[in-house]
Amino acid sequence: MNITILRFDTIGSTNDEAARQAKLGAPEGLCVVASKQTAGRGRHGRVWVSEKGSGLYFSIILRPAIETRFLPLITLMTGIAVHDTLSELGIKPDIKWVNDILVKGKKISGILAETVDTPTGLAVVVGIGINLTSRNFPPELAATATSIEAEAAHHQEADVEQRLTGLLSYWYETLSGADGPDEILRNWKRRSTYFSRKPVRVTTPAGVCEGVTDGLEENGALRLRTADGTTRVIQAGDVELLRVL
Ligand code: BTN
Repeated sequence: MNITILRFDTIGSTNDEAARQAKLGAPEGLCVVASKQTAGRGRHGRVWVSEKGSGLYFSIILRPAIETRFLPLITLMTGIAVHDTLSELGIKPDIKWVNDILVKGKKISGILAETVDTPTGLAVVVGIGINLTSRNFPPELAATATSIEAEAAHHQEADVEQRLTGLLSYWYETLSGADGPDEILRNWKRRSTYFSRKPVRVTTPAGVCEGVTDGLEENGALRLRTADGTTRVIQAGDVELLRVL
């Protein structure tokens, strides 16, 4: 993939700008990066706090040729790339289904993948926020979030961005290749303690359910074994770890 970076000092949301560029015909591999976002978004319309220089605010345009049923694997593929970027900096991350990267249970990065209809076909904008410093965390985030600065001995922002684009290209090529979906699932499993036997509560559009994780479906959906012995397949939802007393 040919990576091109479009850099902004301040922008509303890098995902919105990437979607706009995709509609104008921008090719796969165009990345929008900003030092500050004034309307940074997380999943479910949540705010992604985006103070100047406090995080990497990054969105990439993809034009995937994979079967539509495998599109959800793009979030998992991105999770692997972010995980490996942080590992290269000496951090030991975990991936919480489906879009959270954690270090010692605290969130260091989130992923927001959105599909966009464009004149040349469907594009996917993948937004990635990585906390670079904890210094400007608002009080409500301080207990639940962490940053590269807090977890790694040394780093440079440019270094994080360069490693991330390299690893995204690698894992996206893997996903797009023969046996790609299986390869992504196998690699996600190796990097996530949430793959199986994790007691969790999942909040879905249909309600809340609790159980133990039991692997992923071929499209990346989460299997949850509930107390009555049935298995539920979760296509979308928020996962919370349940502490076992
Ligand atoms: C989440 O954990 O809910 C996803 C957070 C995604 C945040 C990133 S920051 C860059 C890109 N632009 C946005 O507005 N959101 C994503």
